[in-house]
Amino acid sequence: RLLARSRPYYPTPKGGWVPSWQESYAQAAKLVDAMDVTEKVNLTTGIGWSMGPCVGNTGSTKKIGSLCLQDGPLGIRFADDITAFPAGVTVAATWSKYHMYARGKALGAEARAKGVNVILGPCIGPLGRFPTGGRNWEAFGSDPYLQGVAAGITVEAIQSEGVIATAKHFIGNEQERFRQVIESRLMGYSNITESISSNIGDRTLHELYLWPFAEAVHAGVGAIMCSYNQVNNSYACQNSYLLNGVLKDELGFQGFVMSDWLAQHSGVASALAGMDMSMPGDAQIFLDGDTYWGPHLTESVVNKTLPIERLDDMALRIVATWIQMGQHKDFPEVSFSSWTKQHRGLVYQGTLSGPVDVVNDFVDVRANHSVVAQEIAAEGIVLLKNFNNSALPLNDTKLPRAIMIFGSDAGPSPFGPNGCIDRGCNNGTLGQGWGSGSVEYSYQITPLEAIQGRLLTKRGAKRPIVEYSLDDYDLVRAARLAETPGAKCLVFATADAGEAYITSEGNMGDRNDLNLWHNGDALIATVASRCNDTVVIIHSVGAVVMENWIDNPNVTAVLMAHLPAAESGSSLTNILWGDVPPSGHLPYTIGKSLTDYGPGGDILREPNARIPQDDFTDGLDIDYRHFDANGIEPRFEFGFGLSYTTFEYGNLTIKRVFNGNLTSELPPPPDKLPVPNLKSQVPTPDSVVFPADFNNLRGYHYPYLTRAQAAAVNAMLKSDNKTDYPYPPGWNNKPGATPPGGGGQGGHPALYDVLFHVDVDVKNTGSTPGKTVPQLYVSFPAGISVYTPVRQLRGFEKVGVGPGESVTVGFDVRRKDVSVWDEVGNRGWYIPVAKGAKVGDGFVLWVGQSSRRGGVE
Ligand code: NOJ
Repeated sequence: RLLARSRPYYPTPKGGWVPSWQESYAQAAKLVDAMDVTEKVNLTTGIGWSMGPCVGNTGSTKKIGSLCLQDGPLGIRFADDITAFPAGVTVAATWSKYHMYARGKALGAEARAKGVNVILGPCIGPLGRFPTGGRNWEAFGSDPYLQGVAAGITVEAIQSEGVIATAKHFIGNEQERFRQVIESRLMGYSNITESISSNIGDRTLHELYLWPFAEAVHAGVGAIMCSYNQVNNSYACQNSYLLNGVLKDELGFQGFVMSDWLAQHSGVASALAGMDMSMPGDAQIFLDGDTYWGPHLTESVVNKTLPIERLDDMALRIVATWIQMGQHKDFPEVSFSSWTKQHRGLVYQGTLSGPVDVVNDFVDVRANHSVVAQEIAAEGIVLLKNFNNSALPLNDTKLPRAIMIFGSDAGPSPFGPNGCIDRGCNNGTLGQGWGSGSVEYSYQITPLEAIQGRLLTKRGAKRPIVEYSLDDYDLVRAARLAETPGAKCLVFATADAGEAYITSEGNMGDRNDLNLWHNGDALIATVASRCNDTVVIIHSVGAVVMENWIDNPNVTAVLMAHLPAAESGSSLTNILWGDVPPSGHLPYTIGKSLTDYGPGGDILREPNARIPQDDFTDGLDIDYRHFDANGIEPRFEFGFGLSYTTFEYGNLTIKRVFNGNLTSELPPPPDKLPVPNLKSQVPTPDSVVFPADFNNLRGYHYPYLTRAQAAAVNAMLKSDNKTDYPYPPGWNNKPGATPPGGGGQGGHPALYDVLFHVDVDVKNTGSTPGKTVPQLYVSFPAGISVYTPVRQLRGFEKVGVGPGESVTVGFDVRRKDVSVWDEVGNRGWYIPVAKGAKVGDGFVLWVGQSSRRGGVE
């Protein structure tokens, strides 16, 4: 077959040309100018897996020391006394910008207080092309706009605390399986020779997978992590089109690109392609002492293979980002170790020897973050069904005679909340998926505890009968309890997923299917067959198929509670009792079956070549776009969520805000500011050798050459002064003009111009206060010459409205929200116009309570 190809794009655009970064670059230039090559190399290369306190640690320099890079998206991994915040999917389900910010801010504050310079989140890819994708739960739902808003806000919030945020994984890492060769072989796929290639067209890239990254860059994100997979058969961490072209030129990214852990596959090639930092510094295997960079990067500079200006740019980008966040002014020392919970331990854990010192100070960084954690967990619960609008909420003064609780997901794990490494098992209530995106719970409130606490601890209050059965497979006992006269039955069930280095119950990261785990369907059916007031509560990484029981009239209410992490039970009782009105909405579609998601809707399960090829043939039509395009009725559409009250939307008005001349094409890009010009000279090989009497730690990466290596370089330079490095096809060192769509941070600044303002009236037509999420969807004009999805999310706001009250909600529609990417010509973004029509004519704006219901045009 003809393999998809990625085109070359050289050289790496230098950082420093965006106005909001200019001052930091000027200061950084002074610092970097004073560094020698080995110091610069130290900035770019991790010292090796578990060689320092964090999951990633750079080598050190005199002025900056070593930077600590730590997971992750929902809290500080491998650390004590931290908050386990709700997962990305839960945050997305809140559709609350306020809470997105509040979580990012609290997360940033915790990172800073622990001494984490760079937090390895937010995760904004996978985008969720596959509902079975293992790591969707770390990110913010299957729509680029929603994901993009959450990305931008989270980045801003984290960085407002002076911590560098990392947008990951760049890009197209939609499935776990085949992401790495060694891992695939361990899974039994022995023929795989390279990582999977995600074959993505330029338009799909721009309008879907890149969109959230563009928003993160627009928000000033300091770091981007390139992913394990290949894109169009070029590894994401050495794909010059993506890193040099799309990220650093078109999007004007001013921070630094780090590799995912072992996602680097070359030395000079990855440097030329635009990677800036090798993490954790190791080459293909943790701790074997080998590295692509470190001394090899030094060598490539002194033997004149890699232009020294590329190394300068890497160093500048890293130092400028550090300054941009204010870390040069003051920043706490790292006060925890990822490798032990004891007060004292090995300083260089990876060496398994060497000095022992204090490694954990047990700094409690949680402050009052349980409040925001609980609020988000509650607001991320989606009410999917509520019979007669009355099965819920529970009322303390009118409690049922008995409350029966079912399912292992209601209670604690017999192993405790941290029973399995990186949450790699599903026992007890599910609060996080598994993998590097998880954290260790400082505590976890289970639903059983919270419900019993609420029912049974108020002094003197009436006690209902409360019983439970936590064995998912004991259907006999479940049936007996469900028969209790006058009972309300709460059935809990889960679906879990995670990162590929752990397989849980046969799921190799990605889910095997969309079914509930642990006999969930049978348990629900059994209870519902005996109990005519059955409430189903699901903790899940994403969509599950509900067809076996959703229409059962005895299933009176259903809550999708996502992944609440620490504050699980407390947030759930908030909703069950209506202290907090349910206001979550689905950030993905719940289909009636996995096949309803289409031929592109499931991961590539079996290798179709030794280098598995995943063609993104579904293009723009993922998730709800696919259902809309193909007239498939989902069980619950994207954006769906009920409340205990009802809303009506009306009176949509559109005001033109942009008062320039609106053209289909973008105006010419603004000029770039000049970038700092360092006057580095290539040093002699002898000046970069190990200092005398250097005490070398085993497996640790240093920037120095051995005497023998220096001698070899000297000999080469003397003989013909020419490197024999095979430069990649298309390599050149002459910067080109600004690419289409480029010109600012996040792309051409005009893309962010507000063109229209839309207002809509939102009325609470029920009798209790509630929150609603008006969602703005755009349909492109009929008669334009390119395909566009039926409707696309382009705005949302969450508002609280009192009973009988009305509020007006406004949305800004930007140029990029009504543009498409030209993949045939060279136009970049443009507003499509039907023949004979004016720019902007024919767009349909619709504000609904989901992607399908309760709307106004
Ligand atoms: C691999 C994961 O893909 C990435 O998300 C994480 O940050 C690193 N490991 C470090 O743990």
